Amino acid sequence: MSRMIKLAPSILAADFARLGEQVREVEAAGADYIHVDVMDGHFVPNITIGPVVVKALRGATRLPLNVHLMIDEPERYIDAFAAAGADGLVVHPEAGSQLHRAIEQIRRHGIHVGVAINPGTPLSAIEEVLPEVDMALIMSVDPGFGGQEFIEDVLPKVRRLRRLLDERGLAAEVAIDGGITPETAPRCVEAGVRVLVAGTAIFNERASIAENMARLRESATQEEPRG
Ligand code: DX5
Ligand code: ZN
Repeated sequence: MSRMIKLAPSILAADFARLGEQVREVEAAGADYIHVDVMDGHFVPNITIGPVVVKALRGATRLPLNVHLMIDEPERYIDAFAAAGADGLVVHPEAGSQLHRAIEQIRRHGIHVGVAINPGTPLSAIEEVLPEVDMALIMSVDPGFGGQEFIEDVLPKVRRLRRLLDERGLAAEVAIDGGITPETAPRCVEAGVRVLVAGTAIFNERASIAENMARLRESATQEEPRG
């Protein structure tokens, strides 16, 4: 059962002075993706990292690097992140691009395509492109920072997404990002999530990375996943 739920540690909460080490630690503990949060100070208030760090990570792990672009007009940087070694790029329809064009641009690099929507954005913003994507990511916090509180109200949207995909026989993975902990994860899984992105629940002072990941995985697999 446990293999049905994927864990994607978000390095935003990692110790950036020891990034390579921390990424190898989550890899050893069975992470499925490395989630890389890219922020530009425009689309979101925070600024994080660019393609150079993705390139460095590429040399530090064999795990797929799933790069979450929280930047305005992401199509300006898609080629650079793909060239740096991203295995998947996630774009937001709210970021001012033509979503279909951005998806095509990612696809041309032969890497995974993801779309993400903020808590206040309706599912309809990505509904039409679901057949073209590998991952649909529901934000459960307003993007910009780690360690925010999970917004419970997004769960009905997750359920509707799950239903839509099932009805249409589409294979996109349902992911959730923001405020994921052993307390919130089970409800997400019950609603249809298969990929849990987690930052502060994995990288913290309370326990080791391996312990935190084990706890999260255990909580997420208590419920019998649907679908
Ligand atoms: C939020 C980012 C998330 C963030 C999650 O803007 O997209 O990936 O790192 O952090 P936690 O798990 O601490 O909410
Ligand atoms: Zn993210």
